[in-house]
Amino acid sequence: MHIVRVWDLPTRVFHWTLALAVPAMVVSGEIGGAWMEWHFRLGYAVLTLLLFRLGWGFVGGHWSRFGSFVRRPTDVWAYLRQAPASAPGHNPLGGYSVLAMLTMLACQAGSGLMSDDEILSAGPLVHKASEALVRTMTYLHTGPVKYLLVFLLLLHLLAIAWYRFGKRQNLLGPMLLGDKVLEQSTIASRDDAGTRSLALLLTLACAGAVAALLAWAR
Ligand code: HEM
Ligand code: HEM
Repeated sequence: MHIVRVWDLPTRVFHWTLALAVPAMVVSGEIGGAWMEWHFRLGYAVLTLLLFRLGWGFVGGHWSRFGSFVRRPTDVWAYLRQAPASAPGHNPLGGYSVLAMLTMLACQAGSGLMSDDEILSAGPLVHKASEALVRTMTYLHTGPVKYLLVFLLLLHLLAIAWYRFGKRQNLLGPMLLGDKVLEQSTIASRDDAGTRSLALLLTLACAGAVAALLAWAR
C-alpha cells in the first residue's frame, strides 16, 4: 500500500471554502432583502475562487491539473465498464462532473454580475449592459442555470455518498486530509511551502482582477 498526496492544501482550501460559500449564496439569494449585501460580497469571493481554480488547473499540484483529470470520453466508457477499486485524483467520470460544476458555477456567478431584481439589487455590470442582456442574464441566474447548478450539487453529494456506502470508496477523507491509500505507487501532487506560496500569490492576483472589474464597472 502506498500513501500518496493527491489533493494539495490549496485545492482543499478552495473546495471547502466553495462548499461553505455556495449554499450561503443560494440561501442569501432566495431570502433577498438585506441579505443581498452578503450575496454580493460572497459572490465576489466565489468569482475569486473560480478564477483561482482556473489558474490552479494549469499550475497546481499534479492531480489538480485539468490535464490529469479531464480524460477522453472513451476513458469514461472504459471506466464505467470496469471501474478500478480506487483512482488517484478524480476518476474519469468524476473529472467531467467537476468540469460541469465549475462551468455552471462560473455561469451562475457571471450571470449574477448582470442580474437585476428591478427593486433593490442590481449586479455591478448592469448599467454596462443592454436591457435585453440584463433581462436574459436575470432569467438565467434565477431560472435554468440556478436549477441546473443545484441539481449538479445534489448529484455531487449523492455520488460521494454512493462511492462511500455503495462502492466502499472513501473520497471524503482525501478531500479533508489530502492523502489517498493506493495499491500502486504513483506520482504525488507537490504540496510544499513553495506551491502554497504560489497559490497565495495566485489568489491575490485573482482577487485583484475581481477588484479591477468592480472599479471599472463603477
Ligand atoms: C455544496 C457545495 C459544494 C460544492 C460547490 C462542491 C464543489 C466541488 C468541486 C468543484 C470539486 C472538485 C475539486 C477540485 O478538483 O478542485 C469537488 C470535489 C469533491 N467534493 Fe465537493 N462541493 C461541495 C460540497 C461538498 C460536500 C458537502 C462534500 C462532503 C460530503 C464534498 C465532497 C467532495 C469530495 C470528496 C470531492 C473529491 C471527489 C473525488 O475524489 O473525485 N463536497 N467538490
Ligand atoms: C455561484 C454563485 C451564485 C449563486 C449560487 C447565486 C444564487 C442566487 C439565487 C439562488 C438567487 C435567487 C434567485 C431567485 O429569486 O429565483 C440569486 C439572486 C440574485 N443574485 Fe445571485 N448567485 C451567485 C452569484 C451572484 C453574483 C456574483 C452576483 C452579483 C455580483 C449575484 C447577483 C444576484 C442578484 C442581483 C440577484 C437578484 C435577482 C432577482 O431576484 O431578479 N449573484 N442568486
